[in-house]
Amino acid sequence: MANGKRKISVIGAGNVGATCAFSLAERKLGDIVMLDIFEGFAKGKALDMSQAGQILNYDGIVTGTSSYEDISGSDVVIVTSGFPRKPGMTREDLISKNASIISEVGAGIKDHAPDSVVIVVTNPLDLMTYHMWKATGFPHQRVIGQAGILDSARMTHFVADAVGVSNEDVHAMVLGGHGDTMVPLPRYTTVSGIPITQLLDTETIESIGKRTAGGGGEIVKLLERGSAFYAPGNAAAIMAESVVGDRKRLLPCSAYLTGQYGMEDVYIGVPVILGKNGVEKIVELNLEQDELERLQESGSFYKSQLSEVLGWG
Ligand code: NAI
Ligand code: 2OP
Repeated sequence: MANGKRKISVIGAGNVGATCAFSLAERKLGDIVMLDIFEGFAKGKALDMSQAGQILNYDGIVTGTSSYEDISGSDVVIVTSGFPRKPGMTREDLISKNASIISEVGAGIKDHAPDSVVIVVTNPLDLMTYHMWKATGFPHQRVIGQAGILDSARMTHFVADAVGVSNEDVHAMVLGGHGDTMVPLPRYTTVSGIPITQLLDTETIESIGKRTAGGGGEIVKLLERGSAFYAPGNAAAIMAESVVGDRKRLLPCSAYLTGQYGMEDVYIGVPVILGKNGVEKIVELNLEQDELERLQESGSFYKSQLSEVLGWG
């Protein structure tokens, strides 16, 4: 905490980073720093956001930089720097380019914000979160990946549409890796407490699950240049809010497993409780055999990528 005020830094001032910084500013969570290799890009967006504060009723608390010294004392660092997908690419196609960016950013965080909680957004998410954990050398509880909130929000939107109810009353749960192997859980997806298995037929539920798993690709195809950013940027801000406010929200996030769900030494999406120390608890749901198998298959896929492509493990 800097001067009694919370400080949150966002690395990468592109689509996701800027959306996230704007969401943090609107939530009045503290001083916000945006760092990008293109200094003017970060400074220009920060100035625009500071001026928007007059209109949206928050104070001038966003600054832009390309120097890691400016992130010192951060309580939370959100990492969005890296290349997004183009049509026809999988998230895994981004591995080598984004891994070197994560190595560089991780070193900057380790040196200048050694006590921070790090929230990784850069894709491929579960692999880059593991890579960041190694690059910083932080306790694994302080390095977390954002994906499950986004994937669950996508499922929520499709369920609300199919049932014909407000988004507000739907709570979805999507676990596993942020990719084709993700595991939407209809049994844990409810409308005001009612499982959707009582409200929608099997065929509709299956098609919602498929559309959720392909949700990022659907947007990449439509945009033709870049990937989603409104929902992802706000999802990362929600995680930061739970950490700086020690709110203990229970959210699906990519976390390091040490035996939970029968897996270890891998980052994968699971329900966690987020507080001031980062991941304070991983919640183990009572999964049916096929749900657990799909989650473990997802974990095995990322574990093999960690060793085969990144050389970890
Ligand atoms: P973008 O291209 O709009 O922004 C990326 C920014 O990173 C650029 O401003 C670039 O200058 C900056 N950057 C590149 N190398 C850097 C370095 N070494 N240090 C500091 N800044 C650096 O991309 P966008 O749309 O913001 O996406 C960012 C990342 O987030 C991508 O990898 C994308 O795939 C991922 N993503 C992840 C999601 C998730 O749910 N986990 C959802 C959406 C995007
Ligand atoms: C998404 O799911 C590309 O990971 C990004 O939108």
